[in-house]
Amino acid sequence: MSNVILKNSAINVVNLEKSVTTQEGTLTILNGINLDVKQGESVAILGPSGSGKSTLLGLLAALDTPTSGEIWLDGVALSKLNEEQKAALRKQKVSFIFQSFMLVDTLTALENVMLPAELAGVRNAKDKAQAMLTRVGLSHRLTHLPKQLSGGEQQRVAIARAFICEPKVLFADEPTGNLDSVNGHKIADMLFELNQESHTTLILVTHDLLLAKRCQRQLVMDNGHLQEDNSASLRDAETLADTKEA
Ligand SMILES: Nc1ncnc2c1ncn2[C@@H]1O[C@H](COP(=O)(O)OP(=O)(O)OP(=O)(O)O)[C@@H](O)[C@H]1O
Ligand SMILES: [Mg+2]
Repeated sequence: MSNVILKNSAINVVNLEKSVTTQEGTLTILNGINLDVKQGESVAILGPSGSGKSTLLGLLAALDTPTSGEIWLDGVALSKLNEEQKAALRKQKVSFIFQSFMLVDTLTALENVMLPAELAGVRNAKDKAQAMLTRVGLSHRLTHLPKQLSGGEQQRVAIARAFICEPKVLFADEPTGNLDSVNGHKIADMLFELNQESHTTLILVTHDLLLAKRCQRQLVMDNGHLQEDNSASLRDAETLADTKEA
């Protein structure tokens, strides 16, 4: 594939497959995935539990290796990189909000958020981390360890950590899954602000149709296959949103 086609692509995926070996034999989790996401685009990935959404996100973010196929992240073919180069690429360009948060247990909320900024050599990492935690409503929890935080608070720390380096691409796996509607709304607003102000590409896995509807594109994962979604459920979500706003 020529570089011209990939020029404005944040993510380009061709014929991606992911299979794993289980006790019952080979399990194909992702099958024949093709995808092109432009820089600055916002994309929602919907689909039932177990359909392969988190697996796809992990592959796109260079956290996992596909069985076959190719992924270009910001024009770089991931199959050409060794683990060290992948780590460097992630540090430089990618943030990830994990479904299970993945905070460092032994670090406080503030230290967790500071960590990627310090690794990237950002000056005033501490002040930035504090400001970011204030933005997600956690200025009163800076010195708490993850185990001293509620699920929704841990999720907001993970979100603050993902935002601190203004990534080129932000992967968010159910970023509002543990939040009440007020906090969920606030976090969604932050995601789209980052998308618009910093031109961050947003790839969002969510079960929330209203959040999905705020993205420019909606894709649905079904048993390892990915396709654009123009279904009635999304149109219903739009109607619901209009009713709520009225
Ligand atoms: N390493 C693995 N070995 C075996 N099976 C796996 C492995 N990783 C994922 N799976 C299986 O692949 C399927 C897809 O998992 P994945 O986590 O991507 O689903 P998901 O769409 O994110 O679901 P959810 O909405 O529940 O988070 C699941 O059935 C899971 O059990
Ligand atoms: Mg998942």
